[in-house]
Amino acid sequence: MSATQDKMFADTASMYDANSEEYATAAKRELRELTLSPSLIEHLGDLSGKRVLDIGCGTGNSSRLTLSCGAREVTGIDISEKEIITAREIDNGKMIAYFVGNAIDDLSNLGKFDLVTAVLSVHYCTDKGMLEKLFSNVQKVLKPGGEFLAVVVPFAEYDGYGVIISSPTGQEGELSNVSLLDFQGHKFLDFDDIYWSEKTYQEVLEKIGFSVEWLPCIVAEEGIQKYGESFWKKFLDDPIYKIFLAK
Ligand SMILES: C[S@@+](CC[C@H](N)C(=O)[O-])C[C@H]1O[C@@H](n2cnc3c(N)ncnc32)[C@H](O)[C@@H]1O
Repeated sequence: MSATQDKMFADTASMYDANSEEYATAAKRELRELTLSPSLIEHLGDLSGKRVLDIGCGTGNSSRLTLSCGAREVTGIDISEKEIITAREIDNGKMIAYFVGNAIDDLSNLGKFDLVTAVLSVHYCTDKGMLEKLFSNVQKVLKPGGEFLAVVVPFAEYDGYGVIISSPTGQEGELSNVSLLDFQGHKFLDFDDIYWSEKTYQEVLEKIGFSVEWLPCIVAEEGIQKYGESFWKKFLDDPIYKIFLAK
């Protein structure tokens, strides 16, 4: 791993270690609850009988979502020790197995999975080689016919719905500055991420043999009722969350 990548993972783990509570609150903000969660529930469907690995599970928001879709067994891994401790505390029923781990490393000791999810967790790879390594690791732990569903934020500046992304260099694969707020303007936290275009994600996935389908992001009826259709127009025209299914 390059020194730049090493530093990025170390900085990311420290950031989440230090802001675990803020992130857990931000992960429940309206934008996610009204758009991302219902979209994932729709696309994941009935996971009865399935073994799921959630990469970059954080405090377990995405892992609990797959469990609620009926998964038989859910494993979550994250590079932040603090996030894993919080995830385990929330999961006091011991329904989900959480481990500190980096998806760049060999994951084969975790066994094989019907589904691997990565919800907002692959944008910490500093170069395309690292993205390829992460996606290859996913491929290796998928059972035959298994699927990889990920949510990514593509490279672009953005300001709306409580997400502000600015890019000092204007280049994909370079650090972007991110602020997360609620719809009333209260800020949860600031951090840096590395965003890649949808084209890059697709190229890297196809290079290693995945076929890729991009799935729509929807707004829950509750969100339309609460804020009105026109409020969501910009979001639906070009959702900040892009969801891909790779097989
Ligand atoms: C934006 S949070 C998303 C958390 C969770 N999936 C959710 O939906 O709320 C991104 C998480 O990915 C983790 N992460 C980033 N790169 C990772 C990697 N290579 N392996 C494992 N975890 C990683 C971070 O520590 C952080 O907890």
